Amino acid sequence: MRGVLLAGGNGSRLWPLTRAMSKQLMPVFDKPMIYYPLTTLMMAGVRETLVVTTPDSEEQFRRLLGDGTQWGIRLRYAPQPHPGGIAQALLIAEEFLAGESVALALGDNLLHGAGLGRHLRTLHPVSGAHIFAYAVADPTAYGVITFDSSGRALSIEEKPSHPRSSYAVPGFYFYDSSAVKIARELRPSTRGELEITAVNQEYLRRGELRVSVLGRGTAWLDTGTFDDLVQASEYVRVVEDRQGQKIGCVEEAAWRCGFIDDDQLRALAAPLRASGYGDYLLRLLAEPRPATTTVGESA
Ligand code: G1P
Repeated sequence: MRGVLLAGGNGSRLWPLTRAMSKQLMPVFDKPMIYYPLTTLMMAGVRETLVVTTPDSEEQFRRLLGDGTQWGIRLRYAPQPHPGGIAQALLIAEEFLAGESVALALGDNLLHGAGLGRHLRTLHPVSGAHIFAYAVADPTAYGVITFDSSGRALSIEEKPSHPRSSYAVPGFYFYDSSAVKIARELRPSTRGELEITAVNQEYLRRGELRVSVLGRGTAWLDTGTFDDLVQASEYVRVVEDRQGQKIGCVEEAAWRCGFIDDDQLRALAAPLRASGYGDYLLRLLAEPRPATTTVGESA
């Protein structure tokens, strides 16, 4: 399975913050936003990912993430010439995917929870689509999914003004190889975008859409507004301060997943010591690991 990490868009809901800098490079407490979904992809076992950026910001993403070899993964880049919707990323990735199934992650979504990585790894290889649902107080800004009395998905609507359920669809999707073909047949929505919700609706119509509800033990945060951005930072700061464990730490994920060894982690830590980030990585190496620790406990 290959990954597509979408970091496009003009971030206009965060202007002027994002006028000169890509939204997905904004800080969420102690890391750039894109570290969080990249970590989730890695915890899901995805080692080859295409990062889709705006043409202007590709260089900055390359400087931050490189080709991924330092983390035992492979990263490639492709520009999204204009913000044409999430499903457009599937078209841009067509050649990269080469008929494989895909884990599509939005670069501005943060998922965190015990056992999440392990759970995600059990869901692929996928036939059809596998998406997620998460109860939120106000679902109007999201894709919203309804279920019938036996828990089967009934409908999905994009940003309904009168949502028929409180279950929003987070920006992390698994698709089989038909997703590209489905995306190719879409027409732009009224907001001029190829909607990922339309892809999900097509899988639902075919009877090939599976949905897992992420329970309250999982946190899903997105970063669309100033308030969201501060809340996400606060969440990460509170949990990290209390637990002394980082969320969305790419280096740690690479090491816990066995993509890099102790020496490689030590080398990554060295230039990061002035901020304390490197010391955190070194502490991971120094601490005895309890036998019960489960690889990928959090993502
Ligand atoms: C997009 C999708 C929506 C999904 C959301 C998750 O919304 O269109 O279905 O629930 O991401 O963050 P957008 O970022 O375009 O507002």
